[in-house]
Amino acid sequence: MSDRIHLNLFTMNSVEHVSPGSWRHAGDRSHEYTDREYWTEIAQTAERGGFTAVFFADVRGVYDVYGGDRETAVQKGVQTPANDPTYLLPAMAAVTDRLGFAVTRSTTYQHPYELARQFSTLDHLTDGRVAFNVVTSYLESAAVNLGLDERMDKQTRYDRADEFLAVCYALWEESWDDNAVVRDAEAGVYTRPEGVDRIDHEGEFFDIPGPHGCEPSPQRTPVLFQAGSSERGRTFAARNAEAVFCSQPTEAGVREYVDDLRTRAADHGRDPDRLAFFPGIVPVVGETEAAARAKHDRLREGVDVEATLALLSGFLDMDLSALDPDQRIEHIETDAIQGTMNAFTQTDPDREWTVREVAEFSGLGTTSPVVVGTPTEVADEMERWVREVGVDGFNIKEVVRTGTLDDFVDLVVPELRERGLLPAETETGTLRDQLFDDGPQLPPTHPGSDG
Ligand SMILES: Cc1cc2nc3c(=O)[nH]c(=O)nc-3n(C[C@H](O)[C@H](O)[C@H](O)COP(=O)(O)O)c2cc1C
Repeated sequence: MSDRIHLNLFTMNSVEHVSPGSWRHAGDRSHEYTDREYWTEIAQTAERGGFTAVFFADVRGVYDVYGGDRETAVQKGVQTPANDPTYLLPAMAAVTDRLGFAVTRSTTYQHPYELARQFSTLDHLTDGRVAFNVVTSYLESAAVNLGLDERMDKQTRYDRADEFLAVCYALWEESWDDNAVVRDAEAGVYTRPEGVDRIDHEGEFFDIPGPHGCEPSPQRTPVLFQAGSSERGRTFAARNAEAVFCSQPTEAGVREYVDDLRTRAADHGRDPDRLAFFPGIVPVVGETEAAARAKHDRLREGVDVEATLALLSGFLDMDLSALDPDQRIEHIETDAIQGTMNAFTQTDPDREWTVREVAEFSGLGTTSPVVVGTPTEVADEMERWVREVGVDGFNIKEVVRTGTLDDFVDLVVPELRERGLLPAETETGTLRDQLFDDGPQLPPTHPGSDG
């Protein structure tokens, strides 16, 4: 593993993401999420700061588990309102040269033929700078708005996800030969028909003859991100993911997850070191230690505890309004996000969490560590995680938008560059090249590869 770290800005095309209440801070620009210029400015700042990608979370449905209705989530802007992130990419790509873009899409509610076309288009338009964060979704309110009577159970969602990716791999990797497009004006042949194959997929969820409708894009398959944390989710991530977003709040939790997924990847015949790990962190940085602490105090005061409980109730599929604030959170296998549950019930066996403690901890970036300090202290902590825990980079979680990003780029990035952890020169190439330096397309050991 190299010492070079990769940074992703973890954000969402919505007024609020993972720090409930933060839109109320003076100077916060979250409400500008509907403006194209807000996103193009973020893209330029992230690229200037050496970020590898902007990572867009995305959720269908509203958070209506807390109190059994949507009132708190709607009133307090809990990931609502939220726009589709996909359409931001061409604008952000147009003002940058190498920044990548990871977009969250659900295998539960989309159709693979349609999704394969969307990502091929995005990969063409960004010159190969796109990633697909593969999720199976968790909110019941999404299911009922998308034509189902209820949410599919998790096993069925992963069965569908397995088949979904098999279809996408066939469309992206196998359907079109590299030299199918010849553009021979004299002969009147744009594409050689024998270079374009059907996929003839017949399965439990989909029957898709193909061929793919798009010619091969620079990466063919977008870089694959995943964050599965249940037993089934870990197996799915180990088989398919090239980069994994870790959600554990402690170093021990991240280490266990990294080791487990690398072992599972090797069991699938993959190179375990070809899997990149990105824990989330919330950097709170000040020019002096006192300034950083004062900023952290201000940010904590701004946390909206009820909004945090509404967000977590959706993550856990558990109505936290019905529990006594001093009640301990008991472990369950949830049909929603297992990683959030495990963060509080399994990551540290010696620690028990009450509802109140969970809400207080999660208000800044949910389950990720908050790193408070001077640029040197924040960089020290990041360097330690890379060297000792074996992670490849970080998903930087925002509190104040765009303040968290601006502070990080202005204060921490020069320190990381000084230490050689971030290259001073901007790199070029596709997102996969930048992350793994082994070519623009899936490596032959990946199960989706045609090579
Ligand atoms: C760190 C992290 C980030 C996630 N981001 C999203 C997201 O943006 N959109 C979404 O629908 N699901 C998201 N999920 C949910 C997962 O994709 C998955 O659907 C859910 O966690 C159930 O699988 P699991 O229990 O195996 O993790 C995320 C989960 C984790 C742990």
